Amino acid sequence: MKKVLVTGGAGFIGSNFVKLLREERPDVDVVVLDKLTYAGRMENLAAYQNDAQFRFVKGDICDVSDVREAMSGCDTIFNFAAETHVDRSLMGDESLAGAFIQADVYGVYILLEEAKRQNVSLFLQVSTDEVYGDVESGHSVETDPLEPRSPYSAAKAGGELIARAYGISHGVPVIITRGSNNFGPNQYPEKLIPLFITNAIDDLQLPLYGDGMQRRDWIYVEDHCRGILLAAEKGTAGETYNVGGGNEMANRDITYAILGLLGKDESLIRHVQDRPGHDRRYALSTQKLRALGYAPQRSFEDDLASTVAWYQSNESWWRELKSEGEFKKYYGRNYDDKMKSAAPNALESNATDSGDAS
Ligand code: NAD
Ligand code: TYD
Repeated sequence: MKKVLVTGGAGFIGSNFVKLLREERPDVDVVVLDKLTYAGRMENLAAYQNDAQFRFVKGDICDVSDVREAMSGCDTIFNFAAETHVDRSLMGDESLAGAFIQADVYGVYILLEEAKRQNVSLFLQVSTDEVYGDVESGHSVETDPLEPRSPYSAAKAGGELIARAYGISHGVPVIITRGSNNFGPNQYPEKLIPLFITNAIDDLQLPLYGDGMQRRDWIYVEDHCRGILLAAEKGTAGETYNVGGGNEMANRDITYAILGLLGKDESLIRHVQDRPGHDRRYALSTQKLRALGYAPQRSFEDDLASTVAWYQSNESWWRELKSEGEFKKYYGRNYDDKMKSAAPNALESNATDSGDAS
């Protein structure tokens, strides 16, 4: 790796990946291509403004000329760019699901065409554990069937498949990684953890979907980025690697942990109408990546505490986002109706599930 392209590098995981590269691979030149959608922030890349080994290109992965300009001279491509929020992909009107198909499938195709043309050494497609669909028991392995159940996860599965096809048909060296639910600094406050932290700081209600017993495998963003880098450097083209954190928790217990860290009361929780088609559980086996040396050793409790602290000490970052019309419009559309049927937390006072962080 001498010069890499990081698409979506102004977003949450992409910007943390750029940080990892600049800190731990200082000889590598980094180009970021990002459209700066609602989720992309130049502030996330402010540290590299005067960095001679960093270049930012504002552009769209669906646009051939933007892609050609950004990819020029790059040997390795990390595709983080995507529409990423399940709830937005479920909003039927204004063609929101269409934006997911466009960025997460068509955009991957445009990138692959250019990667083929430029004969790159590696194309790493950043994907998600959500492509496996609901996992009732056990842990997903890379050979499991793809059974996505939301427009977001279906679009990500489509992106993976087109990448795989370019590997097989055109010889583009493709590696796919499937990460579990990330948390950490720079995450747009629409996802569970940053939304609940920032709402709780302001004593706003926390809209927990359904019974709050859906389970996710949480990974600190730095571990995810390390897993992706490891797959790129030690993995084999044509292969897929799960990148999980090994911290399986129920949403309700995450919520309690956040409230506990902020010294806030459980009465902020509102059980709201569930997300349609809500996957109850995701869980990843990471044996394949571990064989390459992956060994996340972080403590979930410490990382959640440092994430809460980050949002407490970077209020201007998220207050600006939450005060934008775009966020308010999304929030109203997603939650206003759900909140009408909301139930307070008293309902679950007899619940028995034992969560890791409760
Ligand atoms: P994010 O929403 O924070 O950032 C996405 C970035 O992509 C933004 O900067 C946005 O401006 C950019 N972007 C969107 N469409 C674009 C386009 N057409 N052209 C150029 N740039 C575009 O997302 P994230 O949480 O950082 O996720 C990054 C990647 O990781 C995505 O591919 C996502 O599917 C995958 N992933 C995310 C998670 C998670 O928990 N967040 C877990 C596993 C995998
Ligand atoms: P999210 O952060 O949106 O990630 P994903 O849907 O990609 O897993 O949601 C994580 C879990 O939290 C998921 O089970 C849905 C739930 N959730 C809520 O209960 N309330 C909310 O307001 C949000 C955003 C998520």
